[in-house]
Amino acid sequence: MKAIEVTEYGDSDRLEFVDRDLPEPGPGEVRLEVEAAGINFADVMQRRGVYPGGPEAPYVPGLEAAGTIDATGEGVGLDEGDRVVGMLNGGGYAEYVTADAQMLFPIPDGMSFEEAAGFPVQYLTAHSCLFEWGGLEEDETVLIQAAAGGVGTAAVQLASNAGAEVFGTASTEEKLDLAADLGCDHPINYTETDFREVVDEETDGEGVDLVLESVGDDVFERSLDAMKHFGRMVTYGVASGVPASAENRRLLFENKTVKGFHLGQASYHDPSKIMKAVPELTQGLTSGDLEIILGESFALEDAAEAHQYIEDRKSSGKVLLKP
Ligand SMILES: NC(=O)c1ccc[n+]([C@@H]2O[C@H](COP(=O)([O-])OP(=O)(O)OC[C@H]3O[C@@H](n4cnc5c(N)ncnc54)[C@H](OP(=O)(O)O)[C@@H]3O)[C@@H](O)[C@H]2O)c1
Repeated sequence: MKAIEVTEYGDSDRLEFVDRDLPEPGPGEVRLEVEAAGINFADVMQRRGVYPGGPEAPYVPGLEAAGTIDATGEGVGLDEGDRVVGMLNGGGYAEYVTADAQMLFPIPDGMSFEEAAGFPVQYLTAHSCLFEWGGLEEDETVLIQAAAGGVGTAAVQLASNAGAEVFGTASTEEKLDLAADLGCDHPINYTETDFREVVDEETDGEGVDLVLESVGDDVFERSLDAMKHFGRMVTYGVASGVPASAENRRLLFENKTVKGFHLGQASYHDPSKIMKAVPELTQGLTSGDLEIILGESFALEDAAEAHQYIEDRKSSGKVLLKP
């Protein structure tokens, strides 16, 4: 089969189009014929070799895919021919991949493979961060960093549908228009305006109840500044590549909470915490209350171009690879 391999850590040109043996499903696993694979920012960090616990090169990247089951291992309650989507333990940038059957779910009727491939990581991350971890309630205020990104576009919709007042940041007017269309009440171009100023103006200087923070570096500290007393932050990414931390005296004097979220680790330690949101999300997507925002789609052999596109911050919504 054809696949993309990270030959060694480095820039996007380390992604090579290669031939690999067809993988065989073990007990509890299935093999998918991949129709669409989601690209995540984590794939970029893993390729650079800066992702804690990431795979050793050479490896086939890809943490989520949608496709058709073409072989099953022992003890699996799914059948050949089923259309499924789910999270993977790597390997999704390929024509075929094996997956743990517990981490897959059926693609709802009427949903394309492309839309499905944009579902698991971005929606399960956004939902967990906003509600299970962040405790967002109706009428609260939430600031979403990178609001036009993969996770960001899901988070804006979920927060807006839940009745929250949504602040969102992005770097271009086009991205901000997208966020506004999805329900962002206060789209902020952070390259021109300090998000803290907008939050202060709109909240009478109090700050927001919740922040979803995925950038790190000074954005982390400035997000803490933009939170009200008793405010909460869920930190779930380091898109800048510069990790950040909170000073304990500051947290205790301001009664602020910072929680970390990692989808892969949470799914490993307690999948039920994550997967319980699937029925509600599937229902939202089939009823039209939620939308999967698809960005660019690249052919499998153009994976290097796709990574560069994301690293150049040109993407909005979900970027896909099509074998
Ligand atoms: N913890 C988890 O389980 C989990 C799961 C999924 C994703 N994540 C993390 O969540 C974040 C979003 O993931 P995603 O896949 O949906 O990506 P994405 O939001 O589509 O892309 C990242 C966005 O971050 C913004 N950004 C701000 N500062 C940046 C910088 N210095 N360098 C690069 N980008 C910067 C850019 O948007 P602007 O141009 O608008 O600033 C960029 O488009 C990533 O940090 C990712 O690692 C974590």
